Amino acid sequence: MGEIVCSGIRPTGNLHLGNYFGALRNFVKMQDEHQCFFFIADYHSLTTHPTPGDLYGNARQILVQYLAAGLDPDKATIYFQSDLPETAELYLFLNMNAYLGELERVTSFKDKVRQQPNNVNAGLLTYPTLMAADIIIHKATKVPVGKDQEQHLEMTRTFANRFNNMYNCEVFPLPQAYNFGHELVKIPGLDGSGKMGKSEGEMNAIFLNDEPGAIKKKIMKAKTDLGPTQMNQTKPVEIENLFTLMKVVSTPDTVAHFDDLYNRCEIRYGDMKKQLVEDMVAFTAPFRERIAELSANEDYLRRVMDQGKEKAHESARKTLDEVRHVIGYRR
Ligand code: TRP
Repeated sequence: MGEIVCSGIRPTGNLHLGNYFGALRNFVKMQDEHQCFFFIADYHSLTTHPTPGDLYGNARQILVQYLAAGLDPDKATIYFQSDLPETAELYLFLNMNAYLGELERVTSFKDKVRQQPNNVNAGLLTYPTLMAADIIIHKATKVPVGKDQEQHLEMTRTFANRFNNMYNCEVFPLPQAYNFGHELVKIPGLDGSGKMGKSEGEMNAIFLNDEPGAIKKKIMKAKTDLGPTQMNQTKPVEIENLFTLMKVVSTPDTVAHFDDLYNRCEIRYGDMKKQLVEDMVAFTAPFRERIAELSANEDYLRRVMDQGKEKAHESARKTLDEVRHVIGYRR
């Protein structure tokens, strides 16, 4: 069935509308067309030394939110990276042929050295070999990642190709980026500047599990200007952003109505925001409800985790048997 797709998800808190219209919604589409492996990168988490008490909870929270958004454990293989220790074994093999010079040149590594100068551990340095192991352990051919991960993917190809050459075999295909292209809808934040993101402050993003009260508070506080002074004038970015959000959650008629008022200089931002709150609450309600339901159902989550673990293990075991054989292990 189609390509073998693999992607890792960092367990970093709650998902917002930007995440949903970015990768998430496309993962949900891909699971119908390809053989997909989606895992929660809870080995990679260790590079920043998380508290043991948080590790499972954070991974579980991300699982819940992906399931709530439509990832289907019967279609895709959804698992925790730490449930697949074969990954660590392949990581070890790949590290034997990964060189200090090339690892030190990786942009994300250099960023981390700057961000956490007191914790420049070997896991950070070898982040790209672990990521390569994640991908090639399933012989993935496509990896849906953003621009920031392209260098890692390039290194994955380098390591896979190096392994094939070294052992004169073709165990690993060379994975390519899966580009969503025009399907990506960029969601702006509420602070009137760039895209929606958590790092810009909690008030900048609408999370899929936000309560109606929180949504109202954030939208009513969103940045606006003093209003248009000329008919049909161009909208400043913060107003354009509100319209973009409205296009995503409201009907075309509603958007046209406020656009018209804007163009006639009769818009009242308070009214527009009230409408946006109402439509945003309606749009996010199913996610919020599913998240609450799933969170309360530990039995179901455990079944999903076990199922994913088993399917991922089956795929990984096959690859590792081949790998161990070509390396020369005979037991
Ligand atoms: N590095 C990725 C990120 O920061 C997460 C990740 C880990 C990943 N392993 C992967 C993504 C394998 C794709 C494939 O988002």
